[in-house]
Amino acid sequence: MGTLSDGWREQVTGYLLFSMGTAVIGSLQFGYNTGVINAPEQRLRSFFNNTWVERYGVPISPGVCTMVWSVAVAIFSVGGMVGSFSVGVMANRFGRRRSMFLVNSLAVIGGLLMGFSTICSSYEMVIAGRLVIGLFCGLFTGLTPMYVGEVSPTPLRGAFGTLHQLGVVVGILIAQVFGLEALLGSDKLWPLLLALTVAPAVLQCILLPFCPESPRFLLINLKKEEQARKALVRLRGSEDVSKDLQEMKEESAKMAMEKKVTILELFRSSAYRQPLLIAVMLQLSQQLSGINAVFYYSTGIFDSAGVKQPIYATIGAGIVNTIFTIVSLFLVEKAGRRSLHLLGLGGMAISAVLMTVSLLLKHIPAMSIVAIMAVMMFVAMFELGPGPIPWFIVAELFSQGPRPAAMAVAGCCNWTANFLVGISFPKLEELCGPWVFLIFTAFLIIFFIFTFIKVPETKGKTFDEIARSFGGAQPPTSSSMEDPPASASAATTVPASPVKE
Ligand code: GLC
Repeated sequence: MGTLSDGWREQVTGYLLFSMGTAVIGSLQFGYNTGVINAPEQRLRSFFNNTWVERYGVPISPGVCTMVWSVAVAIFSVGGMVGSFSVGVMANRFGRRRSMFLVNSLAVIGGLLMGFSTICSSYEMVIAGRLVIGLFCGLFTGLTPMYVGEVSPTPLRGAFGTLHQLGVVVGILIAQVFGLEALLGSDKLWPLLLALTVAPAVLQCILLPFCPESPRFLLINLKKEEQARKALVRLRGSEDVSKDLQEMKEESAKMAMEKKVTILELFRSSAYRQPLLIAVMLQLSQQLSGINAVFYYSTGIFDSAGVKQPIYATIGAGIVNTIFTIVSLFLVEKAGRRSLHLLGLGGMAISAVLMTVSLLLKHIPAMSIVAIMAVMMFVAMFELGPGPIPWFIVAELFSQGPRPAAMAVAGCCNWTANFLVGISFPKLEELCGPWVFLIFTAFLIIFFIFTFIKVPETKGKTFDEIARSFGGAQPPTSSSMEDPPASASAATTVPASPVKE
């Protein structure tokens, strides 16, 4: 049983932190591009209008303007769906590290398209840029958790898994602050605000060559044991990496009998049914909790609750968001994933009821304070569990073979639900008025019950132990299929990534 070992502190080296920090730049990018579009809404709308006048000599009609605006916002999630779905193919074909390197080219293309849109008088470039940036972020919502999960020492996989979400929330906060009019949210500078995503992409490309390829990928997929050992020695800061290697070899031995797991097989094989259901439900619980209704529309919510300067309340929510992600990082290896997820969902359900009450009774002046408190509590509870956990638990629920395909399916479900909430919330709010958050309360209760009944604790267990805990039917074996195992084909088709010494 791989429980918390006493020596885990020694396994945390500067090099491990550097490598994970480099990967987490991708999470920061996802957060930044999620948050960046809200502040400059009016600037973008007037840019659409100016372009229209230039081209057709008449102002854009309000309906068309809103349509162009919503497309520019929502196409990001469409790109995210496609990107997250492609992550498995990329991660297996090019490896984890090289995929991250290549994917950054999308940030450069997307950033430049948006940055030069005003110079070229083309709002189409904003839309195209948002689509490309969505693709980029979708790929990183798979690549970062996968890489971080694979290089982490087992006893700290949860704490480090939370780093992805920490990157996301810090990215959102940076976008909120840079979006202030006094900084980059001004009439002139907003294209720079959108193009700024190029800078971290370049930085990550400079740093990635100094990071190792995932030792799991080297050993299990490429069968390069010596390179895997060298990478582990540097990551763990110790010559004795036999425990890690042993664990990977066991997984590898099992994998050698598994056929390459495609997305289709993931759905077909009964061995994966249970973990897949859990992975998908956890992703849905993250998005259908309504968190992005708050992140996309908080300014409006605060406004209707009578808050004077809603933009600052929004930044306040961003700060609470960051603080509680850090709290979760320290709690997750003690309290466990399951308990924190349950606590988070339950707390969010209560906060949503509180929010409803404050909106219903908004004629009472004190209620605007209650509304702010309820939103802050909603966000805080989200970050305890439903924010960080779904992103890294998928990597834990599956072994090396099905992991990339599972991350692709889970990520795509997340982005689809994100898109649905984003696009439907304004309409729902119109239809339900102050009752709207009760829809999320209902979802939260359903997901609470599901988690309580179905989700196992994965804290301190090795990937192999987790996969075995689902027991049941064996995954398909290569002897029963015609294709060679994934590991064998990968070893012949993918050139090895050099490991820096
Ligand atoms: C999670 C969600 C993302 C949300 C963010 C808020 O990362 O996936 O959609 O915006 O949390 O912190």
